[in-house]
Amino acid sequence: MKTIRLSIIGFGAVGQGVANALLHKQDYLESSGINLKVVAISDSHGACIELDGVDLEAALERKKESGSVATSDVMSLKVIRDVDHELVVEATPTNIDDGEPGLTYMLEAFRHGRHVVTSNKGPLALKYNQLCDEAKNNAVHFRYEATVGGAMPILNLAHDALAGNRIIGIEGILNGTCNYILSRMTEEGLSYQHVLGEAQELGYAETNPVYDVEGIDAACKLVILANSIFGMDVTYDDVEVTGITRITPEALTLAGDVGMVIKLIGEVKDGENGVIKVSPKLVPEQHPLAVGGTLNVALLKTDMAGPVCVTGKGAGSMETASAILSDIIAICRNSH
Ligand code: HSE
Repeated sequence: MKTIRLSIIGFGAVGQGVANALLHKQDYLESSGINLKVVAISDSHGACIELDGVDLEAALERKKESGSVATSDVMSLKVIRDVDHELVVEATPTNIDDGEPGLTYMLEAFRHGRHVVTSNKGPLALKYNQLCDEAKNNAVHFRYEATVGGAMPILNLAHDALAGNRIIGIEGILNGTCNYILSRMTEEGLSYQHVLGEAQELGYAETNPVYDVEGIDAACKLVILANSIFGMDVTYDDVEVTGITRITPEALTLAGDVGMVIKLIGEVKDGENGVIKVSPKLVPEQHPLAVGGTLNVALLKTDMAGPVCVTGKGAGSMETASAILSDIIAICRNSH
């Protein structure tokens, strides 16, 4: 079966997670008839390009030792344009101001006839329709399960498993870092700053953690859900956003006294009373949305299947890589 050649653009927590996943799943993938070869990995310092296949173990080791994967000063855009390959894994950090550099990387990949799998929310929250049009015009696949909910399958669930249903509304927890912070503050009585530091160290938080705690990251994910599942045409500016920075330990204790927890909830509802909003809410402790730690959760209201609830780890290197790998496999299957 044909080998699909990949590049990994961006080698932070997510990119390294993808390299680790490919290393550990190599035998399984080969036995499933999926032949993948990473021909380039780039970060902000340069790239490592090996047309016969990058040694992933050595690449991970180099990143750990020297802070960069690069063995040359070839930059990401040149890798995307000039290295012969079929699929770009775009894993650079989210930028909600202009979507760059990820937006340009994705558009260039499409224009060079390469499929894109991404975890980068910024470009999709700002230019969803342009990206989908460009992928379509170049007859390539564009998949982004990892942009919403980390390992929690939601986009593919709505599009594939719930195909035929009308999704009426979705509400849920879409940011692992905020959920981790609120859970640890509630359960362990730890301070906000301490737990935020932990979330950063554990690779849950965005490169700019303000995106997490101000609700920006959850808002981006809602925009992606709204456009992809509800067929809306919205951008980040259409979301009403309140984060968790003003939630005090006292508020969490008061909520607990009446059997409630405070959660950062995202809601999207189509139709006349359309809503697209992120805000902290009181949730009964026994409610399906009251999940803890880095878990994300989504309650989908559908016309045929009724309510469908899905949960899974919303942040983390290997968890996000799980969603990326599922998209890569889907492309391989659809390409044969
Ligand atoms: N920082 C994000 C979160 C990572 O905490 O949910 C996954 O998108």
